[in-house]
Amino acid sequence: MNKNTVTLTNNRNGKSYEFDILDATVGPSVINISTLYKETGMFTYDEGYTSTASCKSDITYIDGGAGKLMYRGYDISYLSKEKTFLDTAYLLLNGELPTEDELGAFSFEMQKRSFVHEGVKKLFDAFPDRAHPMAILSAGVSALSTFYYKHLDITSPQEYKEMSNRIVAKIPTLAALSYRYSNGLPIIYPDMDKGFTENFLCMLRGYPHEYVELKEIEIKALDTIFTLHADHEQNASTTAVRNLASTNAHPYAAISAGIGALWGRSHGGANESVIRQLEMIGTVDRVDEFIAKAKDKNDPFRLMGFGHRVYKNFDPRATVLKNIRNELMDELCIDSELVEVANKIEQIALNDDYFISRGLYPNIDFYSGLILQALKIPKDMFAVIFVIGRTPGWIAQWSELNQQKTVKIARPRQLYIGPNDRTPEH
Ligand code: CMC
Repeated sequence: MNKNTVTLTNNRNGKSYEFDILDATVGPSVINISTLYKETGMFTYDEGYTSTASCKSDITYIDGGAGKLMYRGYDISYLSKEKTFLDTAYLLLNGELPTEDELGAFSFEMQKRSFVHEGVKKLFDAFPDRAHPMAILSAGVSALSTFYYKHLDITSPQEYKEMSNRIVAKIPTLAALSYRYSNGLPIIYPDMDKGFTENFLCMLRGYPHEYVELKEIEIKALDTIFTLHADHEQNASTTAVRNLASTNAHPYAAISAGIGALWGRSHGGANESVIRQLEMIGTVDRVDEFIAKAKDKNDPFRLMGFGHRVYKNFDPRATVLKNIRNELMDELCIDSELVEVANKIEQIALNDDYFISRGLYPNIDFYSGLILQALKIPKDMFAVIFVIGRTPGWIAQWSELNQQKTVKIARPRQLYIGPNDRTPEH
């Protein structure tokens, strides 16, 4: 018996087939079934890809059982404490943490590239008042592919770098513009003297010729949120980005698709829904009623900010954010009534068999919403904040796929359950 293979027996015809086991550096091995259809004439069926590894990647590792997340081999608890978001973005894009000089040069490049073509403003002018900033942002990023069409054909490491740095630098500006246009507010241009996260907060909050006063702790909190969102292996939006990459689409069109996928309430849109849900529950005495709804099989209601496909233990990002939320309680104005409601939900869920037996723990979105609210970030910008953090991860994943020697187009098959040929004789 070969220990590095798995044998599959078809009980219908008694035939056996062997498939190789491929080992991961750390984490689950995989069964290489790429020849399964050729050999057996059958597909595998795995709705929602719960047991499917769609690619090989050396970017991010998650241990869902232990509640561990690493970018390029660095634990996020280390990165969020000791490093900045720009360190993390550099790490994701280049594979190594930057030296001091490299970080300085990267930071300078981010400042230099943060302006967007004035033509983008004409596009944004066309959107109605109150258009959701995620929709504006997705359109804006897609439009960038018209200004930088040359990134469709990238051949050298230098071109990869230029394309990646350009989008990471411009995303905060486009994000802030999305908000300003959605609300009819005057535009604030990037400031070359400000760091990445501070600059974004000023573009979001400021008014022309006004000095925006920011506390260090506000910048640090948002910077940490960006770091914690920077990558998360093959989640729905990254899979969307990779699917587009596999078709040779423009990288910025792929990022735009990622934004669309992230917007969904089951994914990045959850942090906005968490706050709306906490506000709807309103007071501590109503928590039990909503916990009962969440547990009721006949009620579609779900506790937003709970559960995760991969984490069946505490989301490590949530652990970091819970601490930040507690620090901010004293420094900034966090809505204490909503915190009380959140604490009660958390306390019940962590002790209730429904949640324990299903591995439903608070996820990153359960805590990020309250922090973002304390940072005076409007609810419909919450998912946009996620986009700013996730862009280096998406681009690293896009580049990883594109740099493979051969790229296979993402093209799953299906279990057809429709009618057989019923075309009348003709
Ligand atoms: N509230 C109540 N029950 C839940 C919840 C919830 N939030 N999440 C899952 N369940 C139940 C679900 O009904 C099912 O029960 P049963 O086994 O009796 O049918 C079981 O738990 C498994 O759920 P699932 O939908 O099969 O799990 P999934 O891995 O497909 O979904 C999820 C993961 C995140 C989409 C889901 O937990 C959910 O909808 N959570 C609320 C939305 C949310 O907070 N999303 C943010 C995710 S973290 C940010 C990110 O990385 O995108």
